[in-house]
Amino acid sequence: MAQLHITGGQKLEGEIIVSGAKNAALPLLCAGLMTDETLTLTNMPDLSDTRLMARLLANHGLDIDFADNQITLGGAATQFDAPYDLVSAMRASVLVLGPLLACYGQARVSLPGGCAIGSRPVDLHIKAMQSLGAVVELADGYIQARAPHGLKGADIMFQTVSVGATENAMMAAVLASGQTKIINAAREPEIIDLGECLNKMGAKITGHGTDIITIEGVEKLHGATHAVIPDRIEAGSFMIGAAMTGGALTLRNAKAEHLSALIAVLTEVGVIIRHGDDWIAVDKSPSLKAVDIETAPYPGFPTDLQAQYMALMSVVDGYARISETIFENRFMHVPELMRMGADIDIEGSLAIVRGRAGGLTGAPVRATDLRASISLVLAALCATGTTEISEIYHLDRGYADLEARLKMCGAHMTRTTDGG
Ligand code: EPZ
Repeated sequence: MAQLHITGGQKLEGEIIVSGAKNAALPLLCAGLMTDETLTLTNMPDLSDTRLMARLLANHGLDIDFADNQITLGGAATQFDAPYDLVSAMRASVLVLGPLLACYGQARVSLPGGCAIGSRPVDLHIKAMQSLGAVVELADGYIQARAPHGLKGADIMFQTVSVGATENAMMAAVLASGQTKIINAAREPEIIDLGECLNKMGAKITGHGTDIITIEGVEKLHGATHAVIPDRIEAGSFMIGAAMTGGALTLRNAKAEHLSALIAVLTEVGVIIRHGDDWIAVDKSPSLKAVDIETAPYPGFPTDLQAQYMALMSVVDGYARISETIFENRFMHVPELMRMGADIDIEGSLAIVRGRAGGLTGAPVRATDLRASISLVLAALCATGTTEISEIYHLDRGYADLEARLKMCGAHMTRTTDGG
């Protein structure tokens, strides 16, 4: 298996261009199912997840061309099954459900199964489709959905805020007859990006980015060209890396307004941050202090930055309480950080970090999920000695050209393959 070898002690200094957002790209790709005209998506991050989604959509019959961070999707779906081997490899595959039902009146999508960070059910996705009039059965590990007479607009009330279920509901409602209101909708920038792209395709969506999204159904959608928004989680990860290593980084193609919760917390920690319309700079920050956080749906502190923030708190003198409220098992990085010398206690969904400057030493560790893997990279960058990180395929799901970009900023890291 591939490994990353990182020798700590270097400061991250210089400039990094932030990629397009994985979590915007994945639903945007599924929107390609909603027209037989060409949808062109630019600033498309070249990741194993986006390539897997392209493979899934090709499996449905779309014509896909992916090169130079641009993807074009054309043609119509010819089959409506999303198989277990593809869906179980990437949970976001469930986002084909809404588009297939809206356009073709049928979908058979494998249940995704759980993953490292939790059981991650899809009940809210299913309830949303049923609210719009679909008949949904669960059989043989598959969601079998039909809407032979088309979907009908309705009020959809989510008991839990769900990014994916909001996205599936939006895409299904766009071609339903009549008006749909999605109540207690997720408000992430990725939701706004999907709404903007669908509107370019002829949809009539308002309120995306607030907790009530209103959609007036239309007959059909046409092709469009749309640029994927910058990846706020990638940007936040690099900001934290600069703070941990005592460096100074400027992030290009980064939107500070998508990171207001992180910027507020890091400022309280003592990190010096400046920003403009499309850049964020982290300056050398002389003294840092421990600050508690609690993850929450946007615009709260992102759960996808919890592991990275924990790595930062591990090297800042003091006690930090980190509460994970979104997923039930998102502390898989803790035992790995502890192998590097971090001092962390877990009490249910609360982690108590006793941070110590210079407290980490290199060790062999294992990546367990996407965001845990980047937190180990950041920890390794400021640990004493060398760290070997295994199972780094998790990293390749969400961070393109990571080594090249970090090495340009002073990191000492190499990737070895089997037996390398
Ligand atoms: C999206 O996942 C992101 N993935 C996740 O990022 C992110 O952590 C998550 O939103 C929360 O922000 C993509 O956008 C591809 P949810 P999603 O539905 O949509 C529960 C990463 O690292 N729930 O908002 O799957 C669920 O179990 C990934 O890039 C139900 O109970 O997350 C969780 O506790 C990890 N029933 C909570 O809601 C459902 O039907 C929020 O999940 C759906 C979700």
